[in-house]
Amino acid sequence: MHITMIGTGYVGLVSGAGLADFGLQVICVDQDKDKIKRLKKGEIPFYEPGLEELVSKNVKNGRLSFTTDMNTSVRQSLVIFIAVGTPDDGQGQPDLSQVEAVARELAEAIDDYKVIVTKSTVPVGTNRWLKEVIQANLKKGIKVDVVSNPEFLREGSAIEDFMRPNRVVLGSDSAEALAVVKDIYRPLYLIETPFVITGLETAELIKYASNAFLATKISFINEVANLCEKVGADVHHVARAMGLDGRIGPKFLHPGPGYGGSCFPKDTVALAHLGRKLDSPLSIVETVIEVNRRQRARMVNKIETALGSLKGRTVGVLGLTFKPNTSDVRESPAIDIVRILLERGAKVKAYDPAGMDEFKKVVTGRNLSFCQDAYQAAKGAEALVFLTEWNELRNLDLKKLQKIIAQPLILDLRNIYESGKMRELGYTYIGVGRGL
Ligand SMILES: NC(=O)c1ccc[n+]([C@@H]2O[C@H](COP(=O)([O-])OP(=O)(O)OC[C@H]3O[C@@H](n4cnc5c(N)ncnc54)[C@H](O)[C@@H]3O)[C@@H](O)[C@H]2O)c1
Repeated sequence: MHITMIGTGYVGLVSGAGLADFGLQVICVDQDKDKIKRLKKGEIPFYEPGLEELVSKNVKNGRLSFTTDMNTSVRQSLVIFIAVGTPDDGQGQPDLSQVEAVARELAEAIDDYKVIVTKSTVPVGTNRWLKEVIQANLKKGIKVDVVSNPEFLREGSAIEDFMRPNRVVLGSDSAEALAVVKDIYRPLYLIETPFVITGLETAELIKYASNAFLATKISFINEVANLCEKVGADVHHVARAMGLDGRIGPKFLHPGPGYGGSCFPKDTVALAHLGRKLDSPLSIVETVIEVNRRQRARMVNKIETALGSLKGRTVGVLGLTFKPNTSDVRESPAIDIVRILLERGAKVKAYDPAGMDEFKKVVTGRNLSFCQDAYQAAKGAEALVFLTEWNELRNLDLKKLQKIIAQPLILDLRNIYESGKMRELGYTYIGVGRGL
């Protein structure tokens, strides 16, 4: 079966390569000519562990190809996946212009029955609208069906998540289209992946509700961590004991500077917006968003309090991406934190194993410099701040660090080091929610 994947971002490229690995014939389309040129040369436009190998393997065996020509690839394919971006429009709603552009192009290209599968995260009602818009513009007698297939992969472990998902959600009005898409995912049936087959609106809402719930866990534990600091409790023990309760689960109970990335921030805001619009408020989600915003500011205040003042002080910042194992800095807490540090007069020396090129596009400043490694960032710093829990940052030579840092002050905002051990070594160590 031939498949077209429209959009070769994190979701489109991983899904395209993953489906090719399932044995399907996949053409990945993107309007970004430069991206397609690079992909044709075997260059992956972002960092994702294992992706280069997966793409190269499937290009070599002839199952995966790249093009900017949507018309030709759509005509060759029975199934067309949409994986374009749906970023926040700045007013709290997803900007659907990329999806709308694809709908217009599809209406022109389609000349036969097609199954259109939406992987992009889109607000409730979008898939029904998509079907109507495309159908209305097709020649008489040609039919399309639409399936909502929200994607749940996590950057940093995207391939594993695509190949072994916790579940696959498929929403549609058409039994024929559902049968076609179920067939595409047949390899997942063999490993007993649960499938949730439902309607369009339900599938769309599942994605938003899932992300909002995960964000809720993060904001919840962050507030508990803040309380731990007041009462002298250790949030790690609280989170561990909570997580051992099967009804709660241990995941997403890690305190820190708050959630970021290209999904949670925009998806929580979009869900809250939908609730307000339909007079069905999601007050928990509204609060989760506000707690997350406050947590970033709180982290800067932590650094400022530890240093006395930020004006003219040198701060080493380790980790800029919103999570480890990605080069993605979209909505990373580091963006707000570094910006506020600079605004309050600090000099920032930053290092990240993969995200510096992306970060430079978003934050600039006379007092912001980028370093080759963690030790260079620590050299002469009066405080060293850990913002992302990269493995590389978990095992630094703490004795070497102590010799080059101007003052042994560590703000470990991901709690990656052992507080007792750090204090033994002579550091002033400040974590999150560890009873200080
Ligand atoms: N990134 C994630 O971890 C993740 C996880 C689950 C779901 N999602 C959702 O998946 C969708 C895609 O996210 P992403 O992070 O991969 O986005 P992205 O911005 O990285 O990639 C989108 C791609 O689509 C291309 N594109 C835009 N308009 C196009 C058009 N008209 N024709 C062809 N190509 C076009 C862009 O050039 C870009 O390469 C979003 O809705 C997002 O919310 C993302």
